[in-house]
Amino acid sequence: MSDNIYYNKGEKFYITTPIYYPSNKLHLGNCYTNVICDAIARFVRKQGKDVFYLTGTDEHGQKVSQAVANAGKTEMEYLDEIIEGYKKLWELLNISYDKFIRTTDDYHVVAVQKIFRELYDKGYIYKGEYKGLYCTPCESFWTESQLVDGKCPDCGRPVSVQSEEAYFFKLSAFTDKILKLYKDNPKFLQPEARVNEMVNNFLKPGLEDLCVSRTSVKWGVPVDFDPKHTVYVWIDALPNYITALGYKGEDDSLLQKYWPADVHMMGKEIVRFHAIIWPAILMALDLPLPKKVFGHGWLIFGGGKLSKSKADGIKDCIDPYILASNYSADAVRYVLLREIPFGSDGNYTNEILLNRFNSDLSNNYGNLVSRTFSMLKKYFGSIVPEVKNDDLEASKELKTVVLDETKKVFEYMKNYDVTKALASIFNIFSQANKYIEKTEPFSMAKDESKKQALANVMRNLLETIRIGSSLLQPFLPECAEKTLNALGITNDTYENILDFYALKAGEQISPLGILFPRLDIAVELEKLRK
Ligand code: MSP
Repeated sequence: MSDNIYYNKGEKFYITTPIYYPSNKLHLGNCYTNVICDAIARFVRKQGKDVFYLTGTDEHGQKVSQAVANAGKTEMEYLDEIIEGYKKLWELLNISYDKFIRTTDDYHVVAVQKIFRELYDKGYIYKGEYKGLYCTPCESFWTESQLVDGKCPDCGRPVSVQSEEAYFFKLSAFTDKILKLYKDNPKFLQPEARVNEMVNNFLKPGLEDLCVSRTSVKWGVPVDFDPKHTVYVWIDALPNYITALGYKGEDDSLLQKYWPADVHMMGKEIVRFHAIIWPAILMALDLPLPKKVFGHGWLIFGGGKLSKSKADGIKDCIDPYILASNYSADAVRYVLLREIPFGSDGNYTNEILLNRFNSDLSNNYGNLVSRTFSMLKKYFGSIVPEVKNDDLEASKELKTVVLDETKKVFEYMKNYDVTKALASIFNIFSQANKYIEKTEPFSMAKDESKKQALANVMRNLLETIRIGSSLLQPFLPECAEKTLNALGITNDTYENILDFYALKAGEQISPLGILFPRLDIAVELEKLRK
């Protein structure tokens, strides 16, 4: 039994991304939520937990009908192609989801109908007349006071007055309950600034009942007891987090096992739906609430949120397929996780990606691994040396930094702070590079009396690379796994991560090519201009 407090074998962990709107213009910003979730899911798996990681697509609503009409295809033909594109992108970026849900999946449609009916039977849904301001691209109704300069507060596009017979969800009955939820669970919604937004903008003024059906939208889930009504797309979408686990389906064993979710991750523009409407629906259904809702920031490009419509007009390539194919999935994942401070917005340019590639991936990590491996080959025939009487001050310092930063990584990851965790991991590599400068193994190698001291230095470097790569693996799975494999490690976990000496002396390590060949930034930037 391990006494490592960062390893909890068997504990359940359920993490979700929002389900994505169908789009054939995927840009780098679209990848952000899934890259964060993947890093967390991989990390938590290495902590021994039993993880369920859900992603998928949100395929109903007016926008799809419009796109289909323009494309001359059936809805499903149009959607199947797009969903293939998403799946390819997630594969390219090494997104290790356990399930991909589509809101057009039969089991989901049936479950949404049953949910709608239960809410109606319990009196939480009633029939009325809706007159409101609707933003078609965002599929959201807004009140007058929520508009910004008379336009949709999310996308800035015009809204139109729409009126029709509709069903309503009694959201107004939940104002105090949601306020109490935030008060009793200060960590339910994070970062904290999002709580203030929800309280000041929506809860303090008092929640209004929510229109949850449309007669004008045909592409969606029909209300089974009143089929001229289509379920409002968010009431169809939010329950994906439970229908994917079998809620109101034939087999709900996954629901029994994994619900409530440990974390729903999403961009800040859809926190309102997840931190107000979703808990209200769950309360109405008498289901437990998710443990955490996290609203991350945006990838900013040229001064604003990178969005599908905007991505079209941008001169530099921000196509994740091209960026990942040219510079590796690891490089794309790295810049997203490292450059956008977790919870805040962050600027993206291709120059930032390329500079990070050269300075952090190539110079810091890549160079550390390649110099260590080549010195080991030269001085010890690639055999892991034994440590004896290591009394170097620099070694003590290295080990302290490695273990301190390792502990910090686990502490940061308790709050899912992927950015700070990555910074700590790279501090380990920087310290190891400094250790080489300080100890000068190349000089030691010239002096036979320093053979053991040299062995100690090489062993300390190898162990540092092992620990650093083990920590890095959830974030940059490809390069870290190559390094670990070269060290003879497969199926690595965090069970023994706090043991500094875990490699076996006398083992042969395998050769490893250059992980991140240095780039000529000017040349690459030119290639990426449209
Ligand atoms: N379909 C809804 C979610 C329903 S969940 C019940 C939706 N889809 S989306 O495709 O627009 O967004 C999917 C995720 O991508 C969201 O977390 C969103 O915040 C994220 N991003 C899309 N563009 C982004 C940036 N430019 N930057 C960071 N993330 C952004 O909303």
